[in-house]
Amino acid sequence: MISIKSKQEIEKMREACRIVALAHAEVEKALRVGITTKELDDIVERVFKENGANPSCKGYPRGSSNPFPAASCISINDEVIHGIPGPRRVKDGDLICIDLVCDKNGFHGDATRCYVVGTGSTVANKLVRVAEESFWAGFKKVKPGNRISDISYAIQDCVERNGFSVVRDFQGHGIGESMHEDPGIPNYGKFGKGPRLSPGMTLAIEPMINEGRYQVDILDDGWTVITADGMLSAHYENTVLVTETGAEVLTKL
Ligand code: MF3
Ligand code: CO
Repeated sequence: MISIKSKQEIEKMREACRIVALAHAEVEKALRVGITTKELDDIVERVFKENGANPSCKGYPRGSSNPFPAASCISINDEVIHGIPGPRRVKDGDLICIDLVCDKNGFHGDATRCYVVGTGSTVANKLVRVAEESFWAGFKKVKPGNRISDISYAIQDCVERNGFSVVRDFQGHGIGESMHEDPGIPNYGKFGKGPRLSPGMTLAIEPMINEGRYQVDILDDGWTVITADGMLSAHYENTVLVTETGAEVLTKL
């Protein structure tokens, strides 16, 4: 069941999404060679707390024997998603993706930003650019009457035209009172399939793209997803609202 948010619920979504965008802005300011991923995570946790929000990832899923231990997911180079912040120091040329989800007044906002630290390689910079571009290609398809896989197809087409691959094992999702709601939003597939979009739906659209092959593995920590071939990966994500005429990005300032 895909939930349609009321006006009041959309205002709550806006607030959670604004706080996520604020935390991203603070992380971007602090990001430099030598900072640890734990220090970046501490910034996120502080911004969430100062704004009355909770980090949705910390302790997720509830009751698990191995819940996610931090406020943010920070994934570097060959790490695709769900990297765990710790003592690792950011190096010159690293490709770093920061995925943030918060809960404010019972509603969640979710966004990922990705950077190359310092100058970096040509391919790292292109991968980051194409991850964001493919999000916007998908975003253009978000309007009432279109179908979920119209987004998926547009993302895949953009990524593969640029010579990269799309991760198959993880996907975007509806979002609201739960971090993950219906529908699932794959980043690949034929257009014209899946549920139709309606005003009031809120969706987290999140292409995860690889420099090489699309296959991934999971590290022994039970969380960190890495590329199977050891090549680079990038991720970009926004929470978007389906409007009467199209769509609006909510995870912005
Ligand atoms: N943005 C990620 C997602 O959409 C957040 C995962 S949080 C975790 O799935 F707790 F599962 F790590
Ligand atoms: Co998400």
